[in-house]
Amino acid sequence: MASSPVPLLSGLWRTGSGPGGDGRVVKGSLLLVLVVVHLVGSVWAQSEQTPCPLSCECSDIARTVKCVNKTLHEVPRNLPAYVKNLFITYNNISTLQETSFNEVLTNLSNLGLSNNQLEDLGRHTFRNLPALRHLDLSNNKLAYVSDLAFQVGGDLSSPLLELHLSSSLYNESMIFFMAGALQNGSLRNLRKLDLSGNNLMYLPTGMFSSLPSLKHLDLSNNTLVSVRSGIFTHLESLETLDLRQNFLKNLKNTTLLDFSSQPGLSVFLGDNSWVCDCEIEPFLTWLKDTTIVKDSSSLLCSDPEKMQNVSLLSVKVSDLECPPFIMDTSLQTSYVFLGIVLALIGVIFLLVLYLNRKGIKKWIYNIRDACRDHMEGYHYRYEINADPRLTNLSTNSDV
Ligand SMILES: *[C@@H]1O[C@H](CO)[C@@H](O)[C@H](O)[C@H]1NC(C)=O
Ligand SMILES: *[C@@H]1O[C@H](CO)[C@@H](O)[C@H](O)[C@H]1NC(C)=O
Ligand SMILES: *[C@@H]1O[C@H](CO)[C@@H](O)[C@H](O)[C@H]1NC(C)=O
Ligand SMILES: *[C@@H]1O[C@H](CO)[C@@H](O)[C@H](O)[C@H]1NC(C)=O
Ligand SMILES: *[C@@H]1O[C@H](CO)[C@@H](O)[C@H](O)[C@H]1NC(C)=O
Ligand SMILES: *[C@@H]1O[C@H](CO)[C@@H](O)[C@H](O)[C@H]1NC(C)=O
Ligand SMILES: *[C@@H]1O[C@H](CO)[C@@H](O)[C@H](O)[C@H]1NC(C)=O
Ligand SMILES: *[C@@H]1O[C@H](CO)[C@@H](O)[C@H](O)[C@H]1NC(C)=O
Repeated sequence: MASSPVPLLSGLWRTGSGPGGDGRVVKGSLLLVLVVVHLVGSVWAQSEQTPCPLSCECSDIARTVKCVNKTLHEVPRNLPAYVKNLFITYNNISTLQETSFNEVLTNLSNLGLSNNQLEDLGRHTFRNLPALRHLDLSNNKLAYVSDLAFQVGGDLSSPLLELHLSSSLYNESMIFFMAGALQNGSLRNLRKLDLSGNNLMYLPTGMFSSLPSLKHLDLSNNTLVSVRSGIFTHLESLETLDLRQNFLKNLKNTTLLDFSSQPGLSVFLGDNSWVCDCEIEPFLTWLKDTTIVKDSSSLLCSDPEKMQNVSLLSVKVSDLECPPFIMDTSLQTSYVFLGIVLALIGVIFLLVLYLNRKGIKKWIYNIRDACRDHMEGYHYRYEINADPRLTNLSTNSDV
């Protein structure tokens, strides 16, 4: 009788039964319960050793426990030891600390804590989960994350392979806490890190410096305007870097060099705010050449206005309206230097003039006198020359 498929199916999911209950037991439902108990008898007996917490659904066959949308304020106690996948999502847990998982769950590998109101993540929170591989903390409001939040304890390396932190920070300032935790967490095995949707404007220096196994880094849907060079250099195993949906305007030469020096890297750069002015030229040249950027054909200029929505790959250098001659900075400084020298020479010249003002005055007088003498001599000569004519004329007229 118990070998029919019905008891197996109904035994897959067990809902935790609260103490007390309804009290009013109608005869009909009693009969129904009796029938059900009778039918699932064998499965029930097996599950008795591993009770399911209140507010959760447990499946020992799937080794899964779900406690979803139950306004829980903390991690349920007495989780079945077999649990491999645990989802405590859409609840009201605000703090996680060392004692939150106070039983050792040797097989727990997949932990979902997304969509809680998580604010505080204390030290060694996951130390009792030695097999934890996938941790999802998305859609929370983390305002404090201990440097040691992901540390297992001692010098041990955390077993985490995937860490999902999409929209998990209270605001972008909290990235500094997260950066500390990523650096100190001994996340030497981490392969995938999702930091999308956190309004990040800035990536703290060295935040990725202790993740030697990271293969996939998702920084999409943030507000990054630039990528500093050196920020990804320690990620020796990086395979995909997602920078879509940011506000990137340009990428500097040094950053391009960083990308090119990572063998096997794929970068995604779509949905950004590329500024197609003169300064983007090195990036354009690199982009047309490289195979690293997988979505290069979808990149569009967003500025200046007349270039809007033009594909970056179709932009010609002549479209960029570069001034005909751009001084490089060393030339610029030498021009500034030249200007200063010329100004100095001018000042010294004026000073010399001022100090010699008497001599110059004298000199000018001398010249003036000389001129006057000369002019007078000329005038005199003119008068002498003119005289006879004048006298002639006057004598003629007189006559
Ligand atoms: C949570 O449960 C409430 C009713 O109890 C329901 O209205 C709501 O849609 C559920 N939310 C999710 C995310 O499942
Ligand atoms: C969480 O708790 C707050 C009050 O503390 C309540 O207003 C809110 O509905 C709760 N949210 C969920 C998902 O239970
Ligand atoms: C953990 O998993 C292993 C292998 O699947 C299994 O043999 C063991 O019984 C499980 N431990 C618990 C406590 O269920
Ligand atoms: C983030 O929140 C903290 C705490 O409320 C606040 O001090 C800080 O100024 C906020 N940062 C930003 C960029 O809004
Ligand atoms: C965390 O790492 C930073 C930089 O590596 C270090 O300065 C700091 O002391 C570390 N904090 C702890 C608690 O280990
Ligand atoms: C981007 O992030 C915001 C939160 O910062 C989120 O509300 C939004 O759904 C995300 N958009 C996409 C397309 O993932
Ligand atoms: C960037 O690199 C390209 C080629 O590698 C070079 O021609 C260009 O001058 C560089 N630009 C700057 C600003 O260093
Ligand atoms: C560029 O595309 C966006 C979205 O497709 C559109 O709203 C905008 O008007 C376009 N701009 C121009 C200049 O075509």
